[in-house]
Amino acid sequence: MTQPAAPRTAYDAPWWKDAVFHQIYPRSFSDSNGDGVGDLRGVIDRLGYLELLGIDALWLSPVMRSPMADHGYDVSDPRDIDPLFGSVADLDDLIREAHARHIRVTMDLVPNHTSDQHPWFQAALRAGPGSRERERYVFRDGRGPNGDEPPNNWPSVFGGPAWHRVTEADGRPGQWYLHIFAPEQPDLNWLDEEVFQDLATTLRFWLDRGVDGFRIDVAHGMAKPDGLPDMDMITNRIMDNDENDLRFNNPGVHAIHRRIRAVMDEYPGRVTVGEIWCKDNDRFAEYIRPDELHLGFNFRLAEAEWDAAEIREAIDNSLIAVEGVTGIPTWTLSNHDVEREVTRYGGGALGTARARAMILVELALPGTVFLYNGSELGLPNVDLPDEALQDPTWERSGHTERGRDGCRVPLPWQGSAPPYGFSSNESTWLPMPADWQDLTAEAELEDLDSTLTLYRTALELRRMRPEFRGDAIEWYGAPGPGLLAFRRIDGRLTCVLNASGAPVELPDGEVILSSAPLVDGLLPADAACWLA
Ligand code: NOJ
Repeated sequence: MTQPAAPRTAYDAPWWKDAVFHQIYPRSFSDSNGDGVGDLRGVIDRLGYLELLGIDALWLSPVMRSPMADHGYDVSDPRDIDPLFGSVADLDDLIREAHARHIRVTMDLVPNHTSDQHPWFQAALRAGPGSRERERYVFRDGRGPNGDEPPNNWPSVFGGPAWHRVTEADGRPGQWYLHIFAPEQPDLNWLDEEVFQDLATTLRFWLDRGVDGFRIDVAHGMAKPDGLPDMDMITNRIMDNDENDLRFNNPGVHAIHRRIRAVMDEYPGRVTVGEIWCKDNDRFAEYIRPDELHLGFNFRLAEAEWDAAEIREAIDNSLIAVEGVTGIPTWTLSNHDVEREVTRYGGGALGTARARAMILVELALPGTVFLYNGSELGLPNVDLPDEALQDPTWERSGHTERGRDGCRVPLPWQGSAPPYGFSSNESTWLPMPADWQDLTAEAELEDLDSTLTLYRTALELRRMRPEFRGDAIEWYGAPGPGLLAFRRIDGRLTCVLNASGAPVELPDGEVILSSAPLVDGLLPADAACWLA
């Protein structure tokens, strides 16, 4: 059924313009060496599956050398692969073999912070206050008579203060350093020239090996406001970054992106996509001006509740956000930081039906789509026992927030019991549920009604059918409450979503795909369909 993704040329439009990226969370994708943790060879082993799925590009969550305090988002050597995941030679093989299947490979890049085990940070600890070594990070004296209060009131995204006090060489409590995330992730000082030069070296290191681009972690971070003033306290969830949050979206960040772009432009056809949590459309647009990032993650669909009006608003805002800068819209329903959509939409059969409907909405839209591994199988979040939790959020919040492990459970490939072919080791880094036998890739490949079959069909239609042409949509008719319908203006594809709770009539047209069977010609509740 599904053909391999046709190689796209960069002549008229960049290859990423309507590409579908598949996010691989390497720890959880496929384990080739039996240590219970996924790795790069595991990804290579599964390239046939990815080709069959019909995606255009991979985004690998971080695989660089890391002590894994935040599962790779704490990098101690940005120009090496962590042995847990393999070697640089394995990455070379992955790039070569993926390219042979017309699948591009992009990597996560973590420029906002390093690991506390990075040689720079270790040197900064040893060198002491006022040293050159400390300038690469954000060290400050504390407030209060003995300097024993943090330099400002910023919270860490993972809970607790964003500052950690160090013990100086003489054994006394000393300066504080900034860590917007875990204490093991000290923020870099982006006013320091060497910090940029090192990133440029890292970019070229991977680009020279054939990597097709980068997902840039915390792309709205990096720059900090002068004087690091206190901020008004806000809710501190990662998705709640707003305009008053002084930790993010500082104007100085754009000069950094322009410098990154200048390096990227040495390598035509390579892409950057920034993680940008920013609710204001105008400020979002600034990141994707022609000399900054190629793409910016828009998280509005991932944040929208199961509500037609909310989903429509998310779509409108995502389109408006890029319009003024003629940018490319991006769509994502989930990733390794948020609850899986099946669970978010209500869980069980209901959540699955709605997640299936939303994939048709997402894939009907013009722009770049990011799918999170396992969503094609319709995996739910997993309720893990306390003792299994590993996300730093769990400890840092004093066991009040369970964190993100529930969406990071290893993928089920085959068989009827854990570890479902993910590993030869029964003890996987997060335990796998006992009832996933119907959600394995193998089971779903054989089932014409499975979520995997729906994804494969949808991706194939999106790639092959002329109805998906064009960059603009129009809202179709006056949808009733709970309904949403839009049309691709050029290609004339119509997508209808029924969140009304009751079956609805469809507009005229040939139904080319439906997330649930029509009943007497009506689109059932919690379903979506495409009409040509
Ligand atoms: C965003 C990443 O997606 C998340 O997983 C990570 O914990 C933080 N950035 C810190 O790097």
